[in-house]
Amino acid sequence: MERDVIIACDFAGKAECLEFLGLFGDRRPFVKIGMELFYAAGPEMVRALKERGHKVFLDLKLHDIPNTVGRAMRVLSGLGADLCNLHAAGGSAMMRAAREGLTRPDGTRPLLIAVTQLTSTDARTLRDELLIGASMEGTVTAYARNAAACGLDGVVCSPLESPAIKAACGGGFLTVTPGVRFAGGETGDQSRVTTPARARELGSDLIVMGRPITAAADPAAAYVRARREFCGEERA
Ligand code: C5P
Repeated sequence: MERDVIIACDFAGKAECLEFLGLFGDRRPFVKIGMELFYAAGPEMVRALKERGHKVFLDLKLHDIPNTVGRAMRVLSGLGADLCNLHAAGGSAMMRAAREGLTRPDGTRPLLIAVTQLTSTDARTLRDELLIGASMEGTVTAYARNAAACGLDGVVCSPLESPAIKAACGGGFLTVTPGVRFAGGETGDQSRVTTPARARELGSDLIVMGRPITAAADPAAAYVRARREFCGEERA
């Protein structure tokens, strides 16, 4: 998979999202639709972005019984999503059902990646609330291995976790990483951040950037900068 920058379109509705993407002229960035926008604007939002020529990461983080997740993934696949995700904590049967559900009659399917542990979960929560005795790194790596064994394509993780995950699951196992900020920029509510260039060095395949692009004075220029730093000058 070619390195790329995914813009997190965390907007309240379709009109706001399309107005924002209008700032990019003929460019069609890879975009992420999360729960807020999907619950507000629905499947029509995915269809509209696909019709305009965008690649779409549907960040809905499914987690339910295998049958329910498999059937839900079939619907998302039919919308034309390019990348979908779920929680690895749902277990192997759920991950396999999801992969099957995503597979279209012609054999193609969106890429499927797993959330291991949310980056908002800290060591204390892992131990005292989730009752997981293993370390955070051990848990994340074990969940990534399970995902790989179920035929998933990668995980969502911190760029800082990419090297350990690649070592455990192989270089072709995708790491899709949020928590990316320009040097000297605002960090917002993200605590462990890296720059696009550092994410590249650490081996991320795709970076997800929201506010550093959506809230920039010139979002198109911020996007070009992110691509230049992450993908390399020639492909910006
Ligand atoms: O604005 P910002 O660059 O922080 O946006 C990051 C995006 O990635 C948000 O849509 C957020 O929900 C998502 N995300 C994250 N951390 C994770 C998983 C998803 O920041 N572990």
